[in-house]
Amino acid sequence: MRIVMIGSGYVGLVSGACFADFGHDVVCVDKDAAKIEKLNAGGIPIFEPGLDALVAKNVAAGRLSFTTDLAGPVGEAEVVFIGVGTPTRRGDGHADLSYVHGAAREIAAAIRGFTVIVTKSTVPVGTGDEVERIIRETNPQADFAVASNPEFLREGAAIEDFKRPDRIVVGIEDERARAPMEQVYRPLYLNKSPILFTRRRTSELIKYAANAFLAMKITFINEIADLCEKVGADVQEVSRGIGLDNRIGSKFLHAGPGYGGSCFPKDTLALVKTAQDHDSPLRLIETTVAINDTRKRAMARKVIAAMGGDVRGRTVAILGLTFKPNTDDMREAPSISIIQALQDAGATIRAYDPEGIDAARPLLDEVTYATSAYDAAQGAAATVIVTEWDAFRALDLGRLRDVMAAPVLVDLRNIYVPADVEAAGLRYAGIGRAS
Ligand code: UGA
Repeated sequence: MRIVMIGSGYVGLVSGACFADFGHDVVCVDKDAAKIEKLNAGGIPIFEPGLDALVAKNVAAGRLSFTTDLAGPVGEAEVVFIGVGTPTRRGDGHADLSYVHGAAREIAAAIRGFTVIVTKSTVPVGTGDEVERIIRETNPQADFAVASNPEFLREGAAIEDFKRPDRIVVGIEDERARAPMEQVYRPLYLNKSPILFTRRRTSELIKYAANAFLAMKITFINEIADLCEKVGADVQEVSRGIGLDNRIGSKFLHAGPGYGGSCFPKDTLALVKTAQDHDSPLRLIETTVAINDTRKRAMARKVIAAMGGDVRGRTVAILGLTFKPNTDDMREAPSISIIQALQDAGATIRAYDPEGIDAARPLLDEVTYATSAYDAAQGAAATVIVTEWDAFRALDLGRLRDVMAAPVLVDLRNIYVPADVEAAGLRYAGIGRAS
């Protein structure tokens, strides 16, 4: 099939490369000439494990190309995906759809013959209707159908998630879109990955409901963790104990410093706004958003308490800046609020992250960036694990203790066994573990 992907950001690039790997002919389009130039020179603008090799392989096979020209490839395409950004709109928390609407206008002017136009960006319920209206208005002669096909990829595991999805969701209003969409996902379809065909608005809501549920699940275990600390229980074991119940499931029950990233914070907020607009408030999600917002700064208080209540003039080592491991993405990362709150309390920050330092620099003031975990810990009165990179899972704790000014390890991801840390001569503070 001839596929065009509008938007070569995270979603567009990963999906485009994976579709090409299925054997389709894929052109990725982006307005950002520098990005396209970089891609054409063999560079990858984001860090995602395996993506560089997948792109190189499919470019070499002649199935994947990059351009700033939208009209040419769209005129040839059978299916056009819209994978542009939908950031939070300044001021009101709604999703900003100007890029989606702009893409729809340009596509309308360029399509020739029957074309399926698919929103892959996370878009509020009703966006498919609006895209359809814009295309009809811009080009009344156009022969097309608009479908919704949300993505459920996790950063850091995106290729694996794309190739082995739990499910594929496709929302259509026009039956003519069904066969091309089946064809696009044919290798997965043959592999028995469930494809759920539904109406377009339902599909759009599935995406938001899934992310909101997961954000709520994380927030639930985070609050249980706080209670564990008060009553002398261990959240790791509570998680395991409830997660073994199939109705609950063990995933996304890992307590931590609060969820971050480019999806959960933005999507929960947008869903709350949509629900309020329709006079059908989602109070569970409103509360989830509020709890998560305050949690990030509250983590700084935990660090301060572990250091005996005063951090003024003392150094804190921060291990992990990105919102999760295996990405260079700093969007809504808990590290930002934690570092700022510690600085407000008078601490000096030394930080290390395997991939996130370049993205962190413009977001944080007066942080010294280290070249390793041990370098960050040099002279620190506490070392704080904020992101659970594999590189931090097997630190030489004796070496860490020796370079620190005071022996305190705050493990906001519970990746250490408290007894092991204490055996190495460090005081341990985790999440939801009675000390
Ligand atoms: C999330 C969803 O998992 C994807 O299914 C979805 O496609 C994507 O958003 C999206 O809408 O594009 P992502 O944001 O990449 O993916 O990352 P997650 O692995 O879901 O982690 C999100 C945040 O939750 C991170 O800050 C992570 O540290 C936190 N988290 C996750 C926890 O604190 N505990 C957990 O048990 C799981």
